[in-house]
Amino acid sequence: MNPDHIVGTAQMPLAPFAVPPTVVEQLEPAERDALRAEIRTLLVREDAVLVAHYYTDPELQSLAEETGGYVSDSLDMARFGHEHAASTLVVAGVRFMGETAKILNPEKRVLMPELKAECSLDLGCQPEAFNAYCDAHPDRTVVVYANTSAAVKARADWMVTSGSALDVVSHLHAQGQKILWAPDKYLGDYIRANTGADMLLWNGACIVHEEFKGRELAELRQQYPDAKVLVHPESPPSVIALADFVGSTTGLIKAVKTMPAQRFIVATDRGIFYKMQQAAPDKILIEAPTAGNSATCRSCAHCPWMAMNGLRKLAAALRTGANEVLVPADISARAVIPIKRLLEFSAQRQRVVYGNNDA
Ligand code: 13P
Ligand code: SF4
Repeated sequence: MNPDHIVGTAQMPLAPFAVPPTVVEQLEPAERDALRAEIRTLLVREDAVLVAHYYTDPELQSLAEETGGYVSDSLDMARFGHEHAASTLVVAGVRFMGETAKILNPEKRVLMPELKAECSLDLGCQPEAFNAYCDAHPDRTVVVYANTSAAVKARADWMVTSGSALDVVSHLHAQGQKILWAPDKYLGDYIRANTGADMLLWNGACIVHEEFKGRELAELRQQYPDAKVLVHPESPPSVIALADFVGSTTGLIKAVKTMPAQRFIVATDRGIFYKMQQAAPDKILIEAPTAGNSATCRSCAHCPWMAMNGLRKLAAALRTGANEVLVPADISARAVIPIKRLLEFSAQRQRVVYGNNDA
């Protein structure tokens, strides 16, 4: 990874924010059953649908599936919420996901179990500093990852997700555009290496993926030589270098299903194991190491902010209408442009891949 491409190192410490401990909700079976029953009733009463990210507690993922809701990655969550008829979207995930849902659906009410569910990438890219950075590079196309605030998206030309970034940047590079990328330096470096695009990278990182360890992963792979290594591209280059497959959350789930191996070492949030196991029940999944000699392990393969979503908070939000996501109209009007640009780009790619011009 070439440090010359990374900006902001001196001005911005990587984590100028507090990382909460990862606390997973613990419930006795009777309370769990009562909450699930109450949430089912409230979803109907409130004309609401539950949309959950792959990293949330399996309790929430299974409830979304059982109630006609949806479990997916950040882009597909936004698409589902946009197309669904419900007047209230309940987004179990982190705040940028709720904001994206609101920006795409200003007429709908968007609730979240916990509004303080943040993301280190979002927190590490504050709008004032980001605007100054963009002002300093007016010749560059601004591409931001979905994991950013509405205010940062409002300054962007394009929003991308981990599943779409390679395609979008290849497209821009083919047009000769130079790119200003924020906020994940590891994902940006991976995209740069695979497209050859001229990219300046913001100095941000995901505190969960950053903790996967290359050396310890190599040792684990020696222990299980038959295992395939699956890596999310928010991980450091030393971890990506050991991957048999690098991909977005949806891509990693597909890989478990389709790759002809029985055992997988998985470098992403362990919440994804619920859907991986559902997709391939007979396969063995092993968490990639976050421990070892060089460990700092603040999250241990589970995002502390995703873990803030639980049944108690979900029921409370639906009961009271608390935790509504609101985005100022002027910011929303600008942020919707790069988001819709990506949705249209992705839909067009699907039409090219599947040859369906009516879709
Ligand atoms: P996806 O866009 O693949 O859902 O990932 C979001 C995320 O927060 C990864 O850490
Ligand atoms: Fe953000 Fe990382 Fe948590 Fe995803 S896993 S929401 S990138 S802190």
